[in-house]
Amino acid sequence: MSNETFYLTTPIYYVNATPHLGHAYTTILADTMARFQKLRLGPERVYFLTGTDEHGDKIAQAATQTGESPQAYADRISGIFQETWRRLGLAPNQFIRTTSEPHKRAVQRLLQQIYDSGDIYFGEYGGQYCFGCERFYTEKELQDGRCPDHQTTPTFIKEQNYFFRMGKYQDWLIDHIRHHPDFIRPERFRNEVLSFLKDPLEDLCISRPRTRLEWGIPLPFDAQYVTYVWFDALVNYISAPGWPDGEVFQRFWPSAQHLIAKDILKPHAIYWPIMLKAAGLPLYRHLNVHGYWKIEEAKMSKSRGSVVRPLDLADKYGVDAFRYFVLREMTFGLDASFSEEALVARLNADLANDLGNLYSRVLKLIQRYYDGRISELPGERGLADATRVAVMGVTAATERFAFSEALAAIWNLVSATNKYLVTNEPWKADPEDAQTKAVLFSAAETLRAIAILLWPFLPQTAERMLQGLGVSEPLTSIHFDELLSSSWHLGSQERRVQEVEPLFPRIEVTVPRLKPAGTGAKPLPQKSPPLVPSPSEGGELGEGCIEQITIEEFRRIDLRVAEVIEAVAIPGSKKLVKLRVRLQDEERIVVAGLKEPYPPESWAGKRVILVANLRPTKLMGIASQGMVLAAEDESGRIVLLTPEQPISSGSKVR
Ligand code: ME8
Ligand code: MG
Repeated sequence: MSNETFYLTTPIYYVNATPHLGHAYTTILADTMARFQKLRLGPERVYFLTGTDEHGDKIAQAATQTGESPQAYADRISGIFQETWRRLGLAPNQFIRTTSEPHKRAVQRLLQQIYDSGDIYFGEYGGQYCFGCERFYTEKELQDGRCPDHQTTPTFIKEQNYFFRMGKYQDWLIDHIRHHPDFIRPERFRNEVLSFLKDPLEDLCISRPRTRLEWGIPLPFDAQYVTYVWFDALVNYISAPGWPDGEVFQRFWPSAQHLIAKDILKPHAIYWPIMLKAAGLPLYRHLNVHGYWKIEEAKMSKSRGSVVRPLDLADKYGVDAFRYFVLREMTFGLDASFSEEALVARLNADLANDLGNLYSRVLKLIQRYYDGRISELPGERGLADATRVAVMGVTAATERFAFSEALAAIWNLVSATNKYLVTNEPWKADPEDAQTKAVLFSAAETLRAIAILLWPFLPQTAERMLQGLGVSEPLTSIHFDELLSSSWHLGSQERRVQEVEPLFPRIEVTVPRLKPAGTGAKPLPQKSPPLVPSPSEGGELGEGCIEQITIEEFRRIDLRVAEVIEAVAIPGSKKLVKLRVRLQDEERIVVAGLKEPYPPESWAGKRVILVANLRPTKLMGIASQGMVLAAEDESGRIVLLTPEQPISSGSKVR
């Protein structure tokens, strides 16, 4: 569809507290989806909206507590939300505030329109009111007489107010949900709404008397009242793009999708569609509902004072590692438990090991063998099928916000590439062999596909990967569908691998935990102790990071004690020395880069540790049959490793 657009919103968050993991999660999901659609449709076809909800009792009370005016308070906290999203690298097209003039005008316009059409009336109502939720509860909805969300006892309030005729639209709404199976998704929430709609729908109280609450948008038809905060907040989804005539509204409203957590299902699945219908506006396309992040089994909640601060985690582990964890860990629609240990485990296993090592290994080999040049592929590209499978998997899963599945599909491709290398062992092969080139260039091309697929999920990492791979075209010029074609490869231009930095440092497992902050919980350490990223290893295979190996893998390395028989200088080399060594009754020639700390005359009779099963390599025209171990400190001082007691040559080192 050539004029297809994509419009996605998050809830607008209350400014009665600063952002926590839950807010960050929804906004990260939306940012990921928006980036994915930008890749697919082009950036100008996508609109991503977030913002802050600034009216109502809660905000007025929070402002009183800090001694600020409600507006000054809202300005400050809204600023913290905007700054947090900026520091997390989240890039909405617009940030809406409900205290902005265009929004207030739109709310009044909508109210007047619905009032004029007869769906708003004046009446009296008494009921149990929760100040936390800012709404009345029926006896049936309360749990043991308490608010199910805040666990507080509601207050009985009786007053005259304006009401919105929701009941009138109940059958129409049931019908709409029945005929549009993915209007509310995943299905469990659709079922929840349909089951709620089995009971008669009460009309909605949409005003608050000014005698009780000043901080709200005045009703256009009665200045003694302000607008109920939900009737104000929901309107942001159309006021922000400029309803009624704004160009962005006209272009994007037909493709609108909302993203929320299940706490605000009812206003979004019931009030909002009925408000739109009553105003004669088309409905949104999908309401996408996710579950809760929990800490130790309880919903993380600012009103209960148990929260995880997203910036603490992003500062400690990096924005992309944090993003990866939350996107990978939660199944869309279900609750998930947050744990810092699980984050570190995923960071080490998936990011540092699987992805980071693959990237460093391939790029370092290309640097070593071909001076970093990647040229045209010879013939069919390896891993093309695996790439296609991954692209289709990512696309299908992402459309329904199943980001955990999408990432699993990308990691299948990472594993396939790692296997491909292990099978083909390019590090043991002749660099000039056509097959070696094909393997390494195919792996590099697959890494490029992986980087593009990863961009919506881990934007900074993807950009670093592309830069490292020498890709200069901007991401926006990439045609996503190209990834599906088997002939997809670099085209005519030659690329040059850039300097390779490890993508993710491994985190030592004994990390001090960030404790949930807040009144009920133990205090958060003011400054988290520094983490210890392990040193990167410039090893023979060119890994960027230390990879954990099993004991079996270690046993494959044959380390022996060898006795040096003689050592001679190699003409023309400053560093190399040629050693003749004995292992039991075998003699070998080994070239060692140790001439400077250990001149030739110092070697005879020394016992050294030799990597005995290293594939022979030629150095200065001499085939070297092994490698001598030495230790080097940070200043560059080199010391030879020798057995602590005399022991016969050929002894195994374990
Ligand atoms: O409800 N797990 O704002 P709010 C996952 N202003 N997501 C969570 C979460 C958790 N533990 N806690 C919060 C409001 N969220 C209204 C919305 S919209 C027109 C008005 C996220 O600050 C999740 O997206 O209470 C949830 O729906 C939202 O924050 C509620 O934010
Ligand atoms: Mg809330």
